[in-house]
Amino acid sequence: PLPKQVKIVEVGPRDGLQNEKLTVPTEVKLQFIDMLSETGLPVIEATSFVSPKWIPQMADQAEVTQGIRKRPGVVYPVLAPNLKGFQAAVKAGADEVAIFSTVSELFAMKNANCSVEESLQRAEEVTRAAKAAGVRVRGYVSCVLGCPYEGHVSPDKVAQMAKHIYAMGCYEISLGDTIGVGTPGSMRAMLDAVSKEVPVDRLAVHCHDTYGQALANILVALQMGVSVVDSSVAGLGGCPYAPGASGNVATEDLVYMLHGLGIHTGVDLQKVMDAGAFICRFLNRRTSSKVAQASCRL
Ligand code: HMG
Ligand code: MG
Repeated sequence: PLPKQVKIVEVGPRDGLQNEKLTVPTEVKLQFIDMLSETGLPVIEATSFVSPKWIPQMADQAEVTQGIRKRPGVVYPVLAPNLKGFQAAVKAGADEVAIFSTVSELFAMKNANCSVEESLQRAEEVTRAAKAAGVRVRGYVSCVLGCPYEGHVSPDKVAQMAKHIYAMGCYEISLGDTIGVGTPGSMRAMLDAVSKEVPVDRLAVHCHDTYGQALANILVALQMGVSVVDSSVAGLGGCPYAPGASGNVATEDLVYMLHGLGIHTGVDLQKVMDAGAFICRFLNRRTSSKVAQASCRL
């Protein structure tokens, strides 16, 4: 049975923009986020409090966080991989943060310049500080269906990592197919293992579409009881430390599929397409959303 309702977590302003070459001015980001706020999307990941030396695109994280015209009922999480990032996020008024870790030592080193163990220690510091401050924390596990440096990833390893992060106090665990190599087969095997350790209603899937499998993988996740899905408007996105990886599944395509299945999202597809067209025009790039390509003159 499929869920009746799905919560979509829009990651375009963060995952979508972190990898773009073109510097996006703060005002454009804010206009983009404000447009997304009008679509009915319940969660919009706004930016990340990481080092500007590592991710120059997110250097204006405080201005973005402060400048959002927050719409009541919409949550605007920000990435905060360490205590320094968390403190800056709270100072800027973030009401929710996200931590990340991974099952791959090599990815942890390339992405966060530390071991997996150290990334967990940092995450632990953030979750502890967040609990004290009354800030909710979302947790990401990256490379759950494959790693750009280590290749195959064991579902049991992902399950143990998800369990660990959940025990820290994250209210939701987003399982990231960072490089988009998963298939419905590997997604099923991974979720089988993870859902033995973390309640399935606490799980989200975060699919990149590199191999064109994202929607199929999401459908399998829905069939297995997952009802939270991350996506990025216009299919923007990618991680600078995951070479070759393409963007996230496009929000437009996800909404189209979910509505076609009779699943409620609360999202207005046309308004999402408008936000996608806006940011693509600015980035001077073609949308990666098939639905937007079919419906618009981009
Ligand atoms: P570091 O250099 O290893 O750590 O950075 P450090 O603690 O030694 O600090 C070095 C310098 O960075 C110092 O400045 C710190 O103050 C500064 P300096 O003294 O040299 O001038 N610093 C910071 N500045 C701003 N904000 C901070 C911060 N922390 C330290 N929070 C760090 C460690 C994690 C910060 C760094 O490696 C980094 O920023 N990495 C980038 C990580 C990232 O954003 N990756 C992409 C997002 S993850 C992703 O895309 C996957 C996901 O989408 C899920 C999926 O697809 O699977 C979530
Ligand atoms: Mg991602």
